[in-house]
Amino acid sequence: MSINYSEEQFDELLTTSSMLNEDINESSLRPRTLDEYIGQKKAKDNLSVFISAAKMRNEPLDHVLLHGPPGLGKTTLAAIIANEMNVNIRITSGPAIEKPGDLVAMLTNLNEGDILFVDEIHRLNRAYEEILYPAMEDFAIDIILGKGPAANSIHLDLPHFTLIGATTRSGQLTAPLRDRFGVTLRLELYSIEELSMIVNRSAAILNIDIDSDGAYEIASRSRGTPRIANRLLKRVRDFAQVEADGMISRQVADRALSRLDVDKAGLDAIDRRMLRSIIEYYNGGPVGLDTLAATINEESVTLEDVYEPFLLQNGYLTRTPRGRCVTRKAYDHLGIEYLGQQEISL
Ligand code: ADE
Repeated sequence: MSINYSEEQFDELLTTSSMLNEDINESSLRPRTLDEYIGQKKAKDNLSVFISAAKMRNEPLDHVLLHGPPGLGKTTLAAIIANEMNVNIRITSGPAIEKPGDLVAMLTNLNEGDILFVDEIHRLNRAYEEILYPAMEDFAIDIILGKGPAANSIHLDLPHFTLIGATTRSGQLTAPLRDRFGVTLRLELYSIEELSMIVNRSAAILNIDIDSDGAYEIASRSRGTPRIANRLLKRVRDFAQVEADGMISRQVADRALSRLDVDKAGLDAIDRRMLRSIIEYYNGGPVGLDTLAATINEESVTLEDVYEPFLLQNGYLTRTPRGRCVTRKAYDHLGIEYLGQQEISL
C-alpha cells in the first residue's frame, strides 16, 4: 500500500519516535533469559531452537506471533528474545498507532536486526496493516509524497528486523497478517507448581519472607496467571506486615486472600458475579456474551479475554453455539443447589 504525505509531514515522521516506554512497574520481576523464564515449556523449547539457529546463520529471527490470555508473559518473552538475540527492542501497541506515520516512523527508525514489538496487534487499524505486509516480507515500504500530478513515490528500504506481535485473540488477525509470521507460539495458563516457583522467585527478588506453603496458597489462587500471582504476592505481603509477623505462611496468605475477595479456587468477585448471574437470571444458560456483559456491567471483551479462559479451562463454564452455560461445578462452588437443566415456565 502507498501512503500520502506532504513533505513537511514526511520530515516530521522521520524525526518523531512514537515508541512507548515499557511497563516498568513489573520490570524488576521479569526474567531476562529463557533459562530464568519459568513454565511455557513447549513455547520455550521451540523458541530456543529458532533463536540458536538464527544466531548460527547470523540472521535475524523470523517474525513471531505470541498469543494467549493476558498476563502470561508475552511482553516478557519478547524482551527475552531481544536479549538472547543481542538486539534492541522497540515497543508499541496496536491502539497506540494512530496514524500510518506512527508505524512508518517506528519502522524507519529500526536498526539492522532490531525487534519491533507490537502488543495487542489485533487492534491495529486494518488499513495500516497493509504497510506491514511489504515491510515484513521484503523489508521495504513505498511512500507517496504530495498529491496529484506532482506526487512523488519513494521506495524506502528497511533494515532486516523481526516483528513480534502479541495478541489475546489471534482469531481477529486478518489471514494475510497471520500468514506473514514464520513462528507462532501459544502461551497457556500456568500450573500451580509453575506459579509457586514464580512466587518464590519474585519473593526472593523483593525480599519478602515466605514459606513454601504460603507460596503454594498464593499460586493456587492466581488463576494460572503470573501477573495475578505477583500482584497478590505484594498485597499479601501488606497483610503479613501489618496484621502478622511479616512472614507469609499458608494461614497468613489464606486470610489475606479472603480479605481480597479471592476465594479458595482463585475466583474473584467478577468471576463469581458472572457465574451467579448466569444461574440466577438465565437459569444456568445459555446466555449470549453481550447480554451477560450488560447484565453485570462489564465489557464483553474483558469477560471473554480476561475471565473466561480460566473459567472454561477449569470447568466452571462452557461455550455453546447458543451462548455461555455454567456447569454443575459452578453451582457447587457457589453453594447453589443444582436442580438439573430446567425449562423456564412463564
Ligand atoms: N515473572 C512473570 N512471569 C514469569 C515467568 N514465566 N517466569 C519467571 N518469572 C516470571
